[in-house]
Amino acid sequence: MNHSQATTRDHVISAGVATASPAMSITRARAFLAALLAAAGLLLPDAASAQQSDGERLFRQRCGACHSLEPGQNRAGPHLSGIIGRTAGSVESARYSAALRESDIVWDGGTLDTFLAAPRQMVPGTSMTVGVPNAAQRAAIIGHLEGAVAQ
Ligand code: HEC
Repeated sequence: MNHSQATTRDHVISAGVATASPAMSITRARAFLAALLAAAGLLLPDAASAQQSDGERLFRQRCGACHSLEPGQNRAGPHLSGIIGRTAGSVESARYSAALRESDIVWDGGTLDTFLAAPRQMVPGTSMTVGVPNAAQRAAIIGHLEGAVAQ
């Protein structure tokens, strides 16, 4: 009879980003991104522009199926053109939950960050159910939305 030796390995998952404060994880994500770009020989003069392109990609991947940035183009969700400064639930041609329409939220960097972190926690009854738990990703996406307004 063989004596088999089973080795159990502890998987240690670094929870560094998860436990850091939001501001801290944004800083870390920026540094990480800058390091990545430097390694790829694509060093940009400004980490903010790296974050901008990251925001564009993340928006396309995480929001684009349901949201357009073109005025008047509603998908499952309302278009997000001019979202900064817009009152929640105010696009006439879009379909909204009563919860969002009656929320009295005005979208800015802060309210977007809270909503995107956990939509149903901020607006119980909202029909947008997907959130972005990662603070650095939210910051990049919101930066992209702010940039889209400025154009
Ligand atoms: C699966 C589809 C879906 C995805 C993916 C999605 N949303 Fe939404 N979103 C909606 C729907 C539906 C609403 C309307 C919610 C309501 O009426 O309660 C909405 C509403 C919103 C609003 C409020 C708009 C307004 O006019 O008040 C914002 C801001 C928003 N989404 C941003 C985002 C961002 C940023 C992402 C990507 C991280 C995203 N959403 C991903 C479906 C989606």
